[in-house]
Amino acid sequence: MPRIPEPVIDQVRLSIDIVDVVGDHVALTRRGKSFVGLCPFHDDSTPSLNVSQEKQIYKCFACGAGGNSFTFLRDIENISFIEAVRQLADRAGIALPDAKPADPDQQEVFDQLYRANELAVKYFHHLLTQDEKAADAMAYLKNRGINRDVIDAFSLGYAPDQWDGFLQVATRRGFSPQILERAGLVTPRQTGGGFYDRFRNRITFPIHAATGRPVAFGARALDPNEQAKYINSPETPVYNKSATLYGLWRNRDAIRDAGVALVVEGYMDLIALSQYDIENAVASSGTALTTDQARLLRRYAPKTILIFDGDTAGATAAMRGIGSLFEVGLEVRVVTLPEDHDPDSYVRAHGLDGLLGLTENAAPATDFLMEQFAQRDDLSTIDGKTRTANALAELVGRIKDNALKQFLIKDIAEKIGIDEEILIGIAQTQRRTTRPQNGQPEPESYDTRPRSERELLTFLMQHPETADSVFSQISPENFTNSAYRQIATLIARNRQQKQPIEIAHLINQCNDDRLSRILTHLSLEIGIENPNIDVPIQDYIHKFQLKSLEGEIELIEKQLRQPLSPDDLHATLEKHRLLTAQRKAMAEPK
Ligand code: CTP
Ligand code: MN
Repeated sequence: MPRIPEPVIDQVRLSIDIVDVVGDHVALTRRGKSFVGLCPFHDDSTPSLNVSQEKQIYKCFACGAGGNSFTFLRDIENISFIEAVRQLADRAGIALPDAKPADPDQQEVFDQLYRANELAVKYFHHLLTQDEKAADAMAYLKNRGINRDVIDAFSLGYAPDQWDGFLQVATRRGFSPQILERAGLVTPRQTGGGFYDRFRNRITFPIHAATGRPVAFGARALDPNEQAKYINSPETPVYNKSATLYGLWRNRDAIRDAGVALVVEGYMDLIALSQYDIENAVASSGTALTTDQARLLRRYAPKTILIFDGDTAGATAAMRGIGSLFEVGLEVRVVTLPEDHDPDSYVRAHGLDGLLGLTENAAPATDFLMEQFAQRDDLSTIDGKTRTANALAELVGRIKDNALKQFLIKDIAEKIGIDEEILIGIAQTQRRTTRPQNGQPEPESYDTRPRSERELLTFLMQHPETADSVFSQISPENFTNSAYRQIATLIARNRQQKQPIEIAHLINQCNDDRLSRILTHLSLEIGIENPNIDVPIQDYIHKFQLKSLEGEIELIEKQLRQPLSPDDLHATLEKHRLLTAQRKAMAEPK
């Protein structure tokens, strides 16, 4: 049987949340620190299954079933333990050794990768704190207000200004260059063979996995002219970037005690906060938070506060991160720092109280999002509303927690000033169609003419009960705008089949992304361009018919300007006479 190395099993176990694993099979409700649900292992009538997020175990008080994520999956799906580990590793994005027959060396390789990183931590830290070579690095840190306690607490280090400082030390200790390369610590030379150190003349920040072992480094240049301010370890068999958070392992107890995690962007930010006794923080390391990272956080606290740099890049990163945090059901609040500040500079300028003042008044994420959208878009226009509704609907569509979802939909719909149902509809369509990369769909440009057709459609959407009367006088084919014609056809068909014709339902039925956006656009017009909802339906029909009559007359007049045979001329003139008479009758007040 293939063997999976112990550290990898640990890594998988620590990267997934039992609440997700059990939650896939059982509807769970939070009860205090735990979750409860109906036990799937016996015929349960009262919720006897108890899932502890803190301990990552489940237990049925009636039938006695119990265990961890692996045993739950094994027993519910009737698979082997190894298979359960595989499935969950897959889900956590952790690479497993090949499913070949047991590879006794595999465990050894993982162990060596960990040990190589451990050696690097010691070596760099020793250099920084003991070696003359690190004088500039030490001065740099001092200049930035970082004291010796913090250097030790975070095992900060210095990678020397040499091509093979670490390589030499490590090979002397018996590590092969190949292992060091797999650990991301050295890189092969372009020519001539051999390897050289990845990190040179930089301050090193060890990154720890959820197991507490160092698995990677971030390394900051001392020289402000250096092209890359930071160089980071690549992904390795022991380092899964998107499921690791800088500082989490060190700060996990503080986060659990506080019940809230502060999320900052930079290594330096996290360290500065710690120096000011704020220990319940993690750093996203400059990339948008992933859902794996969010899930990791959720194991320690139900709430998060994002503290991001006061520039556009910071706000954009925050907006992306919010999606991941929402997706796993975390409560999110946001602190926007003044421009030119990051958490590091802010806490140093305004002290602990200054920063706590900001976190205490952190805005709910939806407030922050609305503010951002309002800055980027004009929310008094339909286009602006549509774009914003689309972007927000994408976010809402990711949320699995129904209570949170409903709350946010209500909140957001109210803030944009659109109907809840519409937002739900958009969210549902977006899950089926491809999403724009940046969450901001292109402005929809389509021919909105003729106005009479648009008005009739928005009226219909608002007053579905009038549909029968409308379609007895107007056929969907009479709509000249092809998009409107399709929408009218959809409405008429639903009416015939006694299906609802509310917007959310219509959007659901549109397989065409463009059409559903037009529909959304139209639905947003309700109440804006069309405030006079008391106008009787007959007026809309009248206007519509008059308009299509005018269209027909125009067409005939065009024909009359062409050379025609005497017979055709006669027939066409007769038609023209009839239609203009009809128009005259219609235009006259009744
Ligand atoms: N980052 C990176 N590579 C870069 C720039 C940034 O990996 N070239 C990541 C690092 O994890 C960094 C984070 O993004 O900590 C935030 O970037 P930034 O705010 O520029 O860095 P700080 O941590 O604030 O560092 P400093 O204060 O020293 O500029
Ligand atoms: Mn900074």
